[in-house]
Amino acid sequence: DQTLATLGKRAGVRIGTAVNTDALADEPAYTRQVATQFSSVTPENVMKWDAVEPSRGSYNWKAADQLVSFARAHGQLVRGHTLVWHSQLPSWLTNGSFTPAQLRDILRKHITDEAGHFKGKIWQWDVVNEAFNDDGTLRDTIWLQQLGPGYIADAFRWAHQADPKAVLFINDYNIEGVNAKSTALYNLVKKLRGQGVPIHGVGVQGHLDVQYPAPHDIAQNLARFDALGVQTAITEADVRIPLPSDNTKVEAQNQAYSTLLQGCLLTARCTDFTVWGFTDKYSWVPSVFTGEGDANIMDADYQPKSAFTVLQQDL
Ligand code: XIL
Repeated sequence: DQTLATLGKRAGVRIGTAVNTDALADEPAYTRQVATQFSSVTPENVMKWDAVEPSRGSYNWKAADQLVSFARAHGQLVRGHTLVWHSQLPSWLTNGSFTPAQLRDILRKHITDEAGHFKGKIWQWDVVNEAFNDDGTLRDTIWLQQLGPGYIADAFRWAHQADPKAVLFINDYNIEGVNAKSTALYNLVKKLRGQGVPIHGVGVQGHLDVQYPAPHDIAQNLARFDALGVQTAITEADVRIPLPSDNTKVEAQNQAYSTLLQGCLLTARCTDFTVWGFTDKYSWVPSVFTGEGDANIMDADYQPKSAFTVLQQDL
């Protein structure tokens, strides 16, 4: 059995994927791959705030509940994604005018209700997503503007109250290697842990691009988080290619995937390696990065690409 799930189990890591729940419901070939290759799943979109509370006070958990049931039926764990983010917020929230005190209540209710709804069913929650700028300052979001920097600690406390057993992560991109952003995150996690804030993990998204070298010091970066006693995970790995692709770019992609996975395997408390989708058929890349694609480990017909083989070999 050479599935990623089985190889990962032997290596002591879960191998996960982001799941497009429309494809999961509609397409047997997609569903079969999710069920067999992976030992954890992350909803690509359906646990985001705009999806679960499209109009104020009326929740829609349907798609997310279905994914949680699917995971349970297949012996998979679920990464919850994500409670606090600046993006994919419902329009009633972004267009509304609220005082800071009201917004704080709204955020607390959102976290309490969502983490409470899934209580006991989520392995790791991305509580706060993408809170930093690349220079290490906090991102200028509605949450920072209205609530101040303390919103991060508050979010973790509220999530922990609602689901005390979930492992609570802060998650971000461009923090693969040691740099201003990952160092700022490191300092924040260290400070919050010192204050007793229930923050248990750091998620490194791992959205790479073959145009830029994969950071050589991923393992070194993860090691310093490991030393804080928190879990780590690669949470959204994909490696995009400027099209048209060629052998050189594919080779660079293979190396980038390998560097990400090896970084996790070399880190004691790195619990999982999750790809942000596994097939080029459903990838967020072409719609967001003009002229780029081919970012995933299987092609659009679910044939394993060389990056898939590289992951098998590394595990
Ligand atoms: C992306 C999804 O893949 C897209 O389908 C959606 O349109 C936008 O969001 N970082 C994250 C993810 O934390 O939630 C994002 O997912 C990709 C970047």
